[in-house]
Amino acid sequence: MINSFIFNIFGGTGDLAKKKLLPALYNLYKKDMLPENFKVISIGRRNYTKNQYVNFLMEDTKFSSRDKQLDDFLEKITYYEMNFDDSSKYKDLDVLNKKLGEEIKGDNRVFYFATPPSYFEVISNNLSMYYKNNQKNHQRVLIEKPFGSDLKSAEYFNEQLEKAFDKNDIYRIDHYLGKEMIQNILTMRFTNQLFRNNWSKDSIDNIKIAISENIGVEERINYYDSVGALRDMVQNHLLQILSFLTLERPFEITTESLKKEKLNILKNLKTFTPDSIRSDVVFGQYDGYPVKSETETYVALKTEILTDKWKGVPIYLMTGKHMSEKKAEVLITFKKDTSKDCFFNNDNVENNLLAFKIQPTEGVYLRINSKVPGNNDVSTVSLDYCQTCNTNYSSPEAYEKLLFDCLNRDKTLFASWEEIKYSWTFIDSITKSCESRRKALLKYPRGVEDIKESTKLIGGGKWFLD
Ligand code: BG6
Repeated sequence: MINSFIFNIFGGTGDLAKKKLLPALYNLYKKDMLPENFKVISIGRRNYTKNQYVNFLMEDTKFSSRDKQLDDFLEKITYYEMNFDDSSKYKDLDVLNKKLGEEIKGDNRVFYFATPPSYFEVISNNLSMYYKNNQKNHQRVLIEKPFGSDLKSAEYFNEQLEKAFDKNDIYRIDHYLGKEMIQNILTMRFTNQLFRNNWSKDSIDNIKIAISENIGVEERINYYDSVGALRDMVQNHLLQILSFLTLERPFEITTESLKKEKLNILKNLKTFTPDSIRSDVVFGQYDGYPVKSETETYVALKTEILTDKWKGVPIYLMTGKHMSEKKAEVLITFKKDTSKDCFFNNDNVENNLLAFKIQPTEGVYLRINSKVPGNNDVSTVSLDYCQTCNTNYSSPEAYEKLLFDCLNRDKTLFASWEEIKYSWTFIDSITKSCESRRKALLKYPRGVEDIKESTKLIGGGKWFLD
């Protein structure tokens, strides 16, 4: 385990720092998963004293009531005011890091870019001046999404980043990979013989991945309006889940082998043509979206993976804001057994269905066919495992896992540049096409379960279990 570190957060007064990053660090601290010797520098533009900054953090309920442990944690935080584009302030930040480094007797520095993406480049360029003076393997740079807004801008930013920092020190974060049930996809697939040999186009009929939210864009409108659901959710979270679901079993699970297999999926994703945009993509925007624009807050699409193993299996992705509930689920529908066997009353045989319940409930659901007691009829029964129902259990927050892994230099759950590159190629095939601009943006009332056109896309039925 790392023995000391200084955690610099650019965007220390932002929502991400307040609601996710600092609570995640605090949870790790409470669980004794951090070394005693660490410091946090929260970097923000607001003119806060340390006390004011602490009060700002305490507004969030994730910091439970003050106690000795929380006080000790807060003691480790320094608030540093600066404008991210003020080059002169980076020198003082370096001096501060050195000073704190002496206190903790170590010089591991982590830099978390939790700012709007427009600052990523200026921060990375300025930091690089001081970075070079330090030993490379003592630094870590964590980059939030969105990593660019299309392939071209992502390539440009990646070039800048890799010029400024050593590749090994760059961690591109996708917080969905920190979620328990996403990691469980690999465990379930690779430890159960039941699924291992039934995980291809021969047995699987279709795959659905859906993430709905019951809130809108609210105060993130400036960011969101230039991005939309495709870039905000599909380019990263949904495609990463998709690659976990379909990647080939590597000989062993290592950072490199997973990366190679994920890449093989993303490279082989079927991109869109004007025709397939017309038939296989649905865009929506909720009623009352705060500005007049063509930005989608809902997207559903159908694609496939053009490998021998998967070709022909429809893969459906959906995400939307202001829908009826906050939920994320994966549904794997297996092919129906159509063999006619006179012994059974086959009319009632259903497709097997496997669901990964990602949130809010975490669990796994399996639907199988079973005999009706007393006769030879068939009916479906389900095995339903609810992880979050266990009162002794509470899943770590996604960011906890990822921050811990980054501190300990484990990149298994981080996206590589090549993965990001092919994800953008897929998204660009939609966004760069004139057909997308011509396509109707369907208005939907807040709180809907689904949009009619999207239900049609999946051939009727639902995106979620119930
Ligand atoms: C973020 C998106 O990456 O994920 C947000 O930028 C979205 O728009 C959020 O609300 C959803 O994350 P979670 O973990 O709450 O499902």
